[in-house]
Amino acid sequence: MRKLRFAGGITLLTATMLGCGAATTSIAAEELLPSEPTLIEYVDPSRIQGLSTETITQGDSGDRRAHAVYPVLDDAPHLTEKLRTVVSGQLDRFRRATAAGTATASPELNVDWQLAAASDQVVGVRLGIGEFAGTGWANSRTTVWYDRVEERAMDSTGLLKDRSALTVLAALAREELAGRRTGVDADAVRADERLFDSIAFNRHGDLVVEFDDYQVAAGSLGRVAVAVPGERVENLLSPSGRRARQAAVAVRETTVPVSYEKTIETTVAGGPEARSTKAGTVDCAKAKCVALTYDDGPGPDTGRLLDVLNEHGARATFFTLGANAYARPELLRRMSEEGHLVANHTWSHRSLSSLSTSKIAHQLTRGQQAITHATGQTPALMRPPYGAVDREVTEVAGRLGLSVVRWSVDTEDLRAPDAGAVARRAVSGAGQGAIILMHDVHRPTVEATPEILRTLSERGYTFVTVPELYGSAGMRPGTIYDSGPTPAR
Ligand code: NI
Repeated sequence: MRKLRFAGGITLLTATMLGCGAATTSIAAEELLPSEPTLIEYVDPSRIQGLSTETITQGDSGDRRAHAVYPVLDDAPHLTEKLRTVVSGQLDRFRRATAAGTATASPELNVDWQLAAASDQVVGVRLGIGEFAGTGWANSRTTVWYDRVEERAMDSTGLLKDRSALTVLAALAREELAGRRTGVDADAVRADERLFDSIAFNRHGDLVVEFDDYQVAAGSLGRVAVAVPGERVENLLSPSGRRARQAAVAVRETTVPVSYEKTIETTVAGGPEARSTKAGTVDCAKAKCVALTYDDGPGPDTGRLLDVLNEHGARATFFTLGANAYARPELLRRMSEEGHLVANHTWSHRSLSSLSTSKIAHQLTRGQQAITHATGQTPALMRPPYGAVDREVTEVAGRLGLSVVRWSVDTEDLRAPDAGAVARRAVSGAGQGAIILMHDVHRPTVEATPEILRTLSERGYTFVTVPELYGSAGMRPGTIYDSGPTPAR
């Protein structure tokens, strides 16, 4: 399950929408709900020095819907290697499963991440793996650990001292699961490493095992997890396991950013609408305007891209992923300060048309919160992952005050052989009012940008943010925009 940190915000938002302003919920109280012993207190990734993210995707117009993001810590290469292996394995499996074509129109794989713990001794990365096969999402969880002392990356069972510890843990987990509501099959729990591939600790030091959908229950039950009291697992842990537990307990004083409650209030209040600091300086009814857009970031090269845009006095629209924004808020602040527009590309890049109404709202709201947290402004634009929209998506976007922006020029940058090809496609596609799709998580795209800026400048184009294309006519929430207004004749 997603961390409670955001659940507080959603509760407040709901209360506000219903008009019962008095029903404020304390975030601190929610985090301590005793009914949630399996709650893992995820660490705020923006607190971790040297953390960036790696994205594997074909992009928003790719014919295969697969999007995976995992963290990269510059001082833990073994962890990166391990995460890359796990994620690549998932992608390969998905490719094989869908290679021959399936009955499902748009099968999809999505991998996102959270930090289950982080200290100077240990780091735990919890991958959330979702797979869509036409009828619904099946979700699984895998937690990879890195022991900084031993400089070793490991699967979750590395937290246990030996094979017999796994047997004991399986028995304890069965005991905890027995007597749960119907639908959970406690007897399905065996001392099998595949069942115990997601182990972490809650803030009290209890060991939490998360099972995948269908492993011990019908998938419709959602996440099934057990918390085994700390004192019962004490003797089962390896040295890495003890470090992991210590990190999870220590985290309780430090995870929630000081400004957190204030951030939630700002989000609920709506905050000032995100707008380029230089909006209004160009009149696109007179000037030749083009809107460069960069999706899926921020990524490792986004800072460099901002330097390039700055050098050319160009502005762009960044459709950021909430999870990435949350990890690198300083890059969003910079975008905003330098006259770019930060917009919403959902929290974790699942195609919205595959989700229920409440999950569509959840993806968009969490994206809004992450951006508002970073920039102090609330986006008015969203771009649907894979460009996938239906009536429900536009309705929810409209309710959240978001215009739906797609594109008129697809550079197919993620499938382009090199930077030159990206630049050629962007330049040849550009025209008055064009919205050009690119991805700042892709290094060749960043490398192509100076050439795009140079050539299009020579042809008389000005680089503006998306809303500037529409001038005083503005953009309406819940409306789909595939390109700028038709130029006046
Ligand atoms: Ni995207």
